[in-house]
Amino acid sequence: MPLPAVVPLPASIEATGTAFTLGATTVIEGEPDAAAALAAVVRARTGLSLGTTDGPGEYSGSGTRISLRLAPGRAAESYRLVVADGEILITGADAAGLFYGVQTLGQLLSPAGEDWIVPGTVIEDAPRFSYRGVMLDVARHFHPVSTVKAYIDRAASLKFNALHLHLTDDQGWRVHLDSRPELTALASGTAVGGGAADQHSGGFYSKADYREIVEYAASRHVTVVPEVDMPGHTHAVGLAYPNLAEAPALSDEIRETARVHGGGLPVAGSPYQGIAVGFSSLNVHDEATYDFVADVFGELAAMTPGPYLHFGGDEALGTAPEDFATFVSRVSDIIAHLGKIPVAWHEAGAARDIADTTIGQYWGYVSPTDGMDDRARAFVANGSQLILSPADAIYLDMKYPAGPSLGLDWANGPTSVERAYTWEPSAVIAGIDDTDILGVEAPLWTETVHDLAGIDLLAFPRIAAAAEAAWSPPTGTSELRTWASFRERVGALGPLWSSLGIGFHPSDEIPWVAE
Ligand code: ACM
Repeated sequence: MPLPAVVPLPASIEATGTAFTLGATTVIEGEPDAAAALAAVVRARTGLSLGTTDGPGEYSGSGTRISLRLAPGRAAESYRLVVADGEILITGADAAGLFYGVQTLGQLLSPAGEDWIVPGTVIEDAPRFSYRGVMLDVARHFHPVSTVKAYIDRAASLKFNALHLHLTDDQGWRVHLDSRPELTALASGTAVGGGAADQHSGGFYSKADYREIVEYAASRHVTVVPEVDMPGHTHAVGLAYPNLAEAPALSDEIRETARVHGGGLPVAGSPYQGIAVGFSSLNVHDEATYDFVADVFGELAAMTPGPYLHFGGDEALGTAPEDFATFVSRVSDIIAHLGKIPVAWHEAGAARDIADTTIGQYWGYVSPTDGMDDRARAFVANGSQLILSPADAIYLDMKYPAGPSLGLDWANGPTSVERAYTWEPSAVIAGIDDTDILGVEAPLWTETVHDLAGIDLLAFPRIAAAAEAAWSPPTGTSELRTWASFRERVGALGPLWSSLGIGFHPSDEIPWVAE
C-alpha cells in the first residue's frame, strides 16, 4: 500500500486499509479554532463548506465525521491522526499540535468522483526542532500587511512556527516607533531600485499594523521575531539621525556591485537604492548611539510578545573588529536586560563578552568556509544555541537553475530544490548536535522581489525542503527522509498549493501531480 504524501515528513506514518470518504455531509466536531482552520482548508481544496459543532454530544449527523481533540501530556506541538471507516480523529497535545494535525489532513485529501478520499493512515508526529522559522526581508522592498499574512499562512501550513521580520536595512526603516518617529518619517520612503513611484517598494508598518501581524501570526501558532540590523546595514538610520551614522565606507567590491547591479554608490544623507552590502556603520563611539539602541529595542520589546529580539550583526565591514565586539556585547546586554533573548547573525560570535543567552544564526554554507563555523560554535561555548540558515541550501531568494529570472546567485547559486533538501542540520558544524540547535530558518531576502507572486515563486517548493529539515527526523533515518521520497511527496502537493493560490515554481526536478 503506498504511503500518503505528507510534507514535512511525520515522525511516524503507516498506511492502513480503510479509507475515509469526505463529502458534503461530513461534519467537523471538536475544538473550535482547529475546526475553523480545517473547514477553511477543506473549502479551499474541495469547495465544500462542512458543518462544524463544538462537542461530540452535539453531533447527530448521518455523514462521516472528523473529530478534533486536545489530549495534553504528550510532547509540545505533537499530534496523532487516525483515519478509520467513517471517522477521522486528530488529537493534539496542545492547540499548536492540533493545528499541525489539521495541516497534515489538508495534504491527505484527494478527489474521487463527486467525493474526496483520505487514505487509511495512522500518523504520530512531533517536531525535531522547537524553532522552525522563515525570514522575510521587508527592508529591501517593503511588503504590506496582507502579504505578510499570506506568507504566515503559507509557512504555518508547513508547520513553521517563527516569522523573522528583517525590518531595517540600508535601503529603509520599516516600523514606526513613537520614541524615534524620524526613522519612518525620513527613512522609509524608498527601496531597492528607487520606489518613490512604486507603491510596492517604500513604506512602513504603523504600530497598529505591527500588532495586526503579531496577532495574526499568533492565531497560526507563529511567533514574530523582529530584527533591527546593526551596527552595519544602517545607512537608513543616517537619513533620520546623521550624527549616529558613519560616512559610507566604499570598497572595490561595493563599486563593482554598483557597476553590475546599478543603484549608484551610497551617499551620506541620501536614500540608498542599490544592493551593495557592508558599507554602513552606526557611530559606535558615541553614547547617543546606545541611547538610540535602548529606545529602539525597549519599544520593540514592549510591542513584541515573543521571547526573541534580533539585532543583526552581519556584514559590519565598515566597523573595526574591536569596536564591533564592544558594540554587539553592549547591544546583547541591553536586550537581555529587557527580559528578551537576543538573536544575532553568526558574526557576533567574534565578541567574547556577548550576553550568554544570545542565540547565533549561522548563515554560512552547508560546508563552512572562512571560519564562519568558529563564530557559530562560540554561541554554544557560551552556553546558548544556534539557528541554522545555510545560505547555499535554504536562502530562498537564490535563483533556480532553470526558470524564473528572479533571484540572486551570490550564495553559491543557482540553488536547486535538491540542494535545498539534501543537507543534514547536525552535520553542518562539527561538534554541534541536536541539543545545540534551537532550530532551522529559511530566509528570503527581497532585493529582486516586489510582491507576493515573487515570494511564492522563489519560496515554493524550496521552502518545503527547509520545513522538512526543521520538523522531520534526521536525513537518512528512513527511506522516506530522502530526496527520492521528498520529490514525490512535494509533487503531490501541487494541487493543494494551487487551490490555496500559491504560485509555486513548477520546477522540472519535481514530478508534479496533475488533477
Ligand atoms: C546575511 O545574509 N547577511 C545574513
